[in-house]
Parts: sequence; C-alpha cells; structure tokens
Amino acid sequence: MTNETMSAKRSGTFAIGGDLTVNRLGYGAMQLTGPGVWGDPRDPDEAVRVLRRALELDVTFIDTADAYGPFVSELLIRKALHPYPENLVIATKAGLTRSGPDDWRPVGRPEYLRQQVHLSLRHLGVERIDLLQLHRIDPKVPLEEQIGELKLLQDEGKIRHIGLSEVTVEQIEAASKIVDIVSVQNLYNLVKRDAEPVLQYCEAHQIAFIPWFPLATGQLAKAGGPLDEISKRLHAKPSQLALAWLLKRSPVMLPIPGTSSVAHLEENMAAVSIELSEADFQTLLALAK
Ligand SMILES: NC(=O)c1ccc[n+]([C@@H]2O[C@H](COP(=O)([O-])OP(=O)(O)OC[C@H]3O[C@@H](n4cnc5c(N)ncnc54)[C@H](OP(=O)(O)O)[C@@H]3O)[C@@H](O)[C@H]2O)c1
Repeated sequence: MTNETMSAKRSGTFAIGGDLTVNRLGYGAMQLTGPGVWGDPRDPDEAVRVLRRALELDVTFIDTADAYGPFVSELLIRKALHPYPENLVIATKAGLTRSGPDDWRPVGRPEYLRQQVHLSLRHLGVERIDLLQLHRIDPKVPLEEQIGELKLLQDEGKIRHIGLSEVTVEQIEAASKIVDIVSVQNLYNLVKRDAEPVLQYCEAHQIAFIPWFPLATGQLAKAGGPLDEISKRLHAKPSQLALAWLLKRSPVMLPIPGTSSVAHLEENMAAVSIELSEADFQTLLALAK
C-alpha cells in the first residue's frame, strides 16, 4: 500500500453546507479515549500518530465531541494537529453529558449547550467551530430552545455550520425551520440500515450524511461466511468492503471510521482503492438483507 492508494482524495469530495469541501472518507476520533469512551487512551503517543497519519493520507474531515473523554479527544486533536491546515474541517458535538464510562445522558438546556461550545472552542484552539452537531435532542427541552441557542452562537460567529445526530426525518424538518441543517450523523452501516429514510432525505436536500459505526459487518464477516468469496476476489478485508460499500451508496455519505491504531487507520483508508462493481454492490446489499 502506498500513500497514493490510501489517499482520502480517492473517495471524492462533498461540500458541507455548500462551502466546506472535504474528502469524503474522514476519521472519527472517539476511539482516542479510554475504555467506555472515558479518560485517557491506553497509548496517547499512538493516538497522536493516528491523527497525524490521517492528515498525511489526505483526511480533511475529523469528527469528535466534547463528550469523548470528556474533552480527551478534542485536546488530542489540538495537541497533534494545531495549528490546523486550512483545508481541515473539524466537526464536534454538544448535548450529551458523561457520568462515567459508557454512560451518556442528553442535556439540551441552552446554557449548557453554550458552555460546551465555549469549552470546545477552547479545547480545540479555534475561534469558530466548523460544524457543531447537536449530539442528541434532549426530549425534556423544547427543540426551539436547543436549536435556537446554536443559532445564536452561529450568529455570534462561534459556529459556522450546524448538524444533528440520531434524528428522524421529522426532527430534521422541525430543526430546519429554525436554522440551516447541513449534516446528519446517524447509525448506519452495511448491515444496519434503519436510517435509510433519513439518508434519502439527506440526498434530496444535499445534507451530509455521516454514518457512525461504519465498519460493522456483523455475522457476514465470520470465517467461511458470505463475505469470504467477495473478500478474496477483491483482496479486501470485510471492514474495507463495508467502507467501500458506504462510499458507493451515496455521494452525500461521509464515513468516519474510528480507530486507535495507525495500522487499522491505514487498512481503513485503503478502502478508497477498492473498486466495487454495481454487481458487487448489489451482492453485498442482498447478503446484508
Ligand atoms: N453521533 C453519535 O452518536 C456517534 C456514536 C458513536 C460513534 N460516533 C462517531 O463515529 C465514529 C465511528 O464510530 P465507531 O468508532 O463507533 O465505529 P467504527 O468506526 O465502525 O468501529 C470502530 C471499532 O473498530 C475497530 N477497528 C477500526 N478499524 C479496524 C480494522 N481495520 N480492523 C479491525 N478493527 C478495526 C476499532 O478498534 P481499534 O481502535 O483497535 O482499531 C474500534 O473498536 C466515532 O469515532 C465517532 O466519531 C458517533
């Protein structure tokens, strides 16, 4: 594998919000924390190497959140990459609190969202956040108050674009009445496609669709399983097929595979060189069904 065959440039580009152009295959920085997405990673030096290697491989889109650590992922991004290259887009999130490992609870009160946006600005070392995603809609707080506060922060120049995470089409439509929604991040992968209606809505409205848990292949990948033949023929790992499938599925798709190791990062990036034919694409879809 050469840098050329692993270059995110090969995944094509998408303009988030019409003006932030990124290479479509990005990197998700949630795995750069301790177990349960809590505390420091086992190997902080490797975490820094992963981030720098991602940029060498032309990744221009990194996804993180205040809640990853909390703060650990954002601070590592700053340590590894600041001052940031001009073409790098860092997307972060606010709206989920942490009380311990694997514990996530939504808090959408405006004053809390505002505090977290200010903390993300400080932790990332930027004056404006490229893309701020509401991590979860808090059912206890009116949507207008949550999105309204993000809009205020946008008007103040603290946020460039606003996105959502884990939402329905109805929720995107409701939020879009208050502010331009430029991205949606929902669970979606080859074997878990419940978000298909949301993806189709994003395609129709040129909204970036950022699938999380993108590498999942479930039972398909077990030895002797249905992915074996196609994997051997294309000299590809099941996880690479999952990424290649996502990239082919839609031009608005921005996968953000996460890893804490340079070796896995390189393996994932090499998915850009897998040429899935239309028949391969359909075979994978049929297997997943
Ligand atoms: N919006 C949300 O609610 C939400 C929720 C979850 C995640 N996310 C975002 O989505 C990103 C991706 O999701 P994810 O990290 O849950 O799932 P993922 O990218 O599908 O998978 C990550 C897992 O796969 C392993 N892995 C990565 N590359 C591998 C390879 N080549 N071979 C074998 N194992 C490999 C990683 O372990 P190693 O570290 O050992 O490689 C890690 O355990 C996150 O980083 C985060 O930015 C968002």
